[in-house]
Amino acid sequence: MPRDKKRTYARIARFYDFLDGPFEKSRYRTLRPRLFEGLSGRILDAGVGTGRNIDYYPPESEVTGIDLSPAMLSRARKRRDEAGRAVELMEMDARRTTFPDGHFDAVVASFLFCVLDYDDQLPALKELGRVCKPGGEIRLLEYCYSEDPRQRFVMRLWAPWVHWAYGARFDRDTERYIDEAGLTLRHKEFVYGDTLKLLILAPPDGPA
Ligand SMILES: C[S@@+](CC[C@H](N)C(=O)[O-])C[C@H]1O[C@@H](n2cnc3c(N)ncnc32)[C@H](O)[C@@H]1O
Repeated sequence: MPRDKKRTYARIARFYDFLDGPFEKSRYRTLRPRLFEGLSGRILDAGVGTGRNIDYYPPESEVTGIDLSPAMLSRARKRRDEAGRAVELMEMDARRTTFPDGHFDAVVASFLFCVLDYDDQLPALKELGRVCKPGGEIRLLEYCYSEDPRQRFVMRLWAPWVHWAYGARFDRDTERYIDEAGLTLRHKEFVYGDTLKLLILAPPDGPA
């Protein structure tokens, strides 16, 4: 439920970068450039959070970041201004945006779908597919449980904290909704062990 997520992120926003810092340094920093590699034109960063992706936006691109949480957005604005980037930041629900069909050349979402409730996975995928132009790309970076029993056990120990702090879960299984959303899985790759995966999706074809 969006109101719960707003409350969760109002609570965690001021600690978010600090808590995420060790993971940012050891994992995400090297992965974020891949989210934007080769992209150009109009890009949507859905669930922009505190703006951790801003440093990796392609220089000539026109990026819009949306997020449900005003508290996270205010941190993103600060980061954007410090970086001197012209990024539009808007409070908006990724499941129901106000953008026209095919408005963006590409859509990126890092750690958004592990936060979205199970029931919100399909509507959000459909919406990101709607706003991405035919021939464009949707790139998702998401967590999942490891197949390794020891690592899975450790992740299970972390899970209650991760859910309380971020509203996130490791078992969102976003892939299962791809077909129903009318999208096509173009590429899937584990980019950190078998717990962090990059999904590259193609939006539906345009009108015939
Ligand atoms: C785990 S954070 C990830 C932030 C950022 N993308 C990153 O890579 O650090 C998830 C973000 O998604 C936002 N969010 C949750 N539900 C959303 C929704 N329905 N629409 C837009 N943003 C949402 C949260 O407010 C939060 O800022």
